[in-house]
Amino acid sequence: MGIQYDEGKRMFKLDTACTTYMIGISDEGYVGHVYYGKRLHRFGGKYLMRMEEMPYTPLVNQREKTSFLDFYPMEYPTGGVGDYRESCLDVRNSAGSIGSEIFYESHSITGGKPPLPELPASFGKEDEVDTLQIVCADPVLGLRVTLLYSVFEKEDVITRSVKIENSGTEELRLEKVYSAGLDMENRDFEMVSLCGSWARERHIQRAALRYGRQLVSSSKGESSHQEHPFLALVTPETTQETGEIYAMHFVYSGNFIAQTERTQFDYIRMVMGIHPDGFCWRLAPGESFQAPETVMTYSGSGFGKMSRSLHDFYREHLIRSPYKYKKRPILINNWEATYFDFNTEKLLDIAREAKKNGIEMLVMDDGWFGKRNWDDSSLGDWTVNQEKLTTGLPDLVSQVRSLGMEFGIWFEPEMISLDSELYRAHPDWAIQIPGRVPGLSRAQYVLDISRKEVRDYAYECMAKILRSAPITYVKWDMNRQLCDIGSTALPADAQGELLHRYVLGLYEMQERLVTEFPELLLENCSGGGARFDPGMLYYSPQIWCSDDTDAIERLKIQEGTALIYPLSTIGAHVSDCPNHIVGRQTSFETRGNVALAGTFGYELDITKISGEEREQIAGQVENCHKYRELIQAGDYYRITSWSDRKPYDCWEVAAKDGSHALVTFVQVLGQPNVHSKSIRLRGLESMASYRLEGTEAVYTGEELMECGFLIRDVKGDFQSKLYHFIRE
Ligand code: GLA
Repeated sequence: MGIQYDEGKRMFKLDTACTTYMIGISDEGYVGHVYYGKRLHRFGGKYLMRMEEMPYTPLVNQREKTSFLDFYPMEYPTGGVGDYRESCLDVRNSAGSIGSEIFYESHSITGGKPPLPELPASFGKEDEVDTLQIVCADPVLGLRVTLLYSVFEKEDVITRSVKIENSGTEELRLEKVYSAGLDMENRDFEMVSLCGSWARERHIQRAALRYGRQLVSSSKGESSHQEHPFLALVTPETTQETGEIYAMHFVYSGNFIAQTERTQFDYIRMVMGIHPDGFCWRLAPGESFQAPETVMTYSGSGFGKMSRSLHDFYREHLIRSPYKYKKRPILINNWEATYFDFNTEKLLDIAREAKKNGIEMLVMDDGWFGKRNWDDSSLGDWTVNQEKLTTGLPDLVSQVRSLGMEFGIWFEPEMISLDSELYRAHPDWAIQIPGRVPGLSRAQYVLDISRKEVRDYAYECMAKILRSAPITYVKWDMNRQLCDIGSTALPADAQGELLHRYVLGLYEMQERLVTEFPELLLENCSGGGARFDPGMLYYSPQIWCSDDTDAIERLKIQEGTALIYPLSTIGAHVSDCPNHIVGRQTSFETRGNVALAGTFGYELDITKISGEEREQIAGQVENCHKYRELIQAGDYYRITSWSDRKPYDCWEVAAKDGSHALVTFVQVLGQPNVHSKSIRLRGLESMASYRLEGTEAVYTGEELMECGFLIRDVKGDFQSKLYHFIRE
């Protein structure tokens, strides 16, 4: 059992393979944080709650209660009663004031993990995870707060969430409900986050912590291109292999906040949850509110260990799709090939040529429905455009299938074009503030999927198409951020619930889809990677990573993404050059090698590329088959980073049993007058011998890991190589 309770000490000890998390209950019943870090063998450390230091505990000394609360390391700090640091919970009572204070009441420890109602959440069997529930109460408000901790021993992950129940007699308002807080001593921490923009998502950013609050957040209604629901505090010496890391990652796809605060006493408070801006949830007597889940991990050996813990955790305990470890078809998507300008014949031309080269699925992207010849119409009118698909969709699917290929399709079900039959019939279905003209983005509005009738309509449109033909893949897109947050269906005092209800509506729709079509391969997408988050991974095993398919831009994007997500989740395609977004020319080989570190597919007009490029497809397809299992299930090691101002980028995937490893090396810029470069491999068996495939060269594992392998044959800019080492 990964969770123990010491009745005498009134302490909990949560253990994973390499970490320990300890919680203590004070004499008053405050639930205090004691320790999180490297695995401890014995209970202890309750002194870390500092109950013997001035200004003493409120039980002894009510006179200085606020000074006490402003320092005490709380597991779940509440707002309004004297802890001036960021609170995790703000509750407004029926008289209009914010204030709550919670005290330990009881707890339970069980094997397994209960699901979170209406929310995506990690899961595990009884022998994989244990759950601690600490029930606390605010006797004044009649509020019950249950703190949930689930301990995944093998993956070194602890998940947290919170359930708030109104057990009193008055209606309450939740104005802020975070999912987790972590108080600890500062150790010269630096903050690591993932930031970017459209076409350059999830670049790694690192900066020293100043006094005060530093945060990343989204109030865009989705997790966003710009900031990411992930935050790590790292000690200054942290590298891939050294240093301590405390990381939090949010299993949620809407507005979020991830914040650290360095206080006057050089203490740190780290919090994560739904963004409180505009959030207000009514809680009538007897009702409850479940906050989404936060994933926490501690690494005492650098970023590499953190990445591998999270990769294993997401693969084993969050992704449900039958495609998790199954072979995904190598697809060709027509978006960058044709944009909106295609018809049945054009798609079949692409499919025929693709099939000849070993590609396994055709994906028909945006533009097949309504009068959608550009991005300014028809979202919501999900009927096939007969001018483009002249023989109808079932016939097109059947022709593609008779070539021996599968068929996939694009939808953007959460949206409504201003120019659409749907908008003309139901203008009130768009999210809007009555009396104000809502802001357009990409000429479209957002459907109010907090409403059941709207969800039912959008879902049925999609399902009808999927029922009409054997379509085995869906790309679910979402191409704008939300604004003008108002629903014509919610009462005035419930408008603060809209954004969270929107996300719950999205989850309900995706759950329906994967339930009705259990064999469907679902890929989420949002204008590239604006909704690449753990919440979406619960429904789709892969997510389109970025609209930027340039191999060199992808280095930083995929490095940042792979910092926390397994490579099997990263949507990556080989596209045409000059690249449509940055105009860069890179070799076909490099485009293939970079896309291999993801789901791998094509997004170009295969009928128009040069013969020389087309001839390389067969080899790339072969690589994909050969390395697929390794890339989907292996251990990822970041060797060097272009984003760290190195002239080259290098990563490795090693089989968990050390039997082989694939190294990808990308020379971004060639340099004059340099010798070969040595890279040190990881994850091999020290005493085993490894042969470099395609050569006679044999190395010992320790040689490759300690002395390094010499890269000597890469010349020029944007050049790359794969090196496959096989244990003999
Ligand atoms: C978004 C997606 C693209 C493509 C277009 C279609 O931008 O990220 O891949 O599907 O929409 O409009």
